[in-house]
Amino acid sequence: MKILVINGPNLNFLGIREKELYGSNTYQDLCNMINDYAKELKIEVELFQSNHEGAIVDKIQEAYLNKVDGIVINPAAYTHTSIAILDALKSVMIPTVEVHITDVNQREDYRKISYVKEVAKLSIVGHGLKGYIEAIDYLVK
Ligand code: DQA
Repeated sequence: MKILVINGPNLNFLGIREKELYGSNTYQDLCNMINDYAKELKIEVELFQSNHEGAIVDKIQEAYLNKVDGIVINPAAYTHTSIAILDALKSVMIPTVEVHITDVNQREDYRKISYVKEVAKLSIVGHGLKGYIEAIDYLVK
């Protein structure tokens, strides 16, 4: 089984950005946690982070060509703005789980809109970094 984990803008700044919201673990800590879990489950995981919307669209299209079985995506701020990412996910029809570290429903009104939600099999919000592990579990099962 091949899973692609996509993180959007500013998530490479985990551990630096707004620690009171996102915690003090770094993006590298997140990658290590996911890679360790993938080893345990004996599945293949690729990690991808970009601050650029088009690069995320390209990566989703590449997942189709590479026959990826599942996508875990935290589109970060693009969650609330990007129809292009939604359309890319709709195009590839790969089972997708949306993850947000914080509970976006309890924050500013503009974070309550998620375009990706329309296509996601499941949205995990506010579970911190372990939300990514829960998302992988969901896709594996
Ligand atoms: C986020 C929530 C988004 O609103 C925000 O723009 C992010 C991170 C989260 O993981 O909680 O960058 O997706």
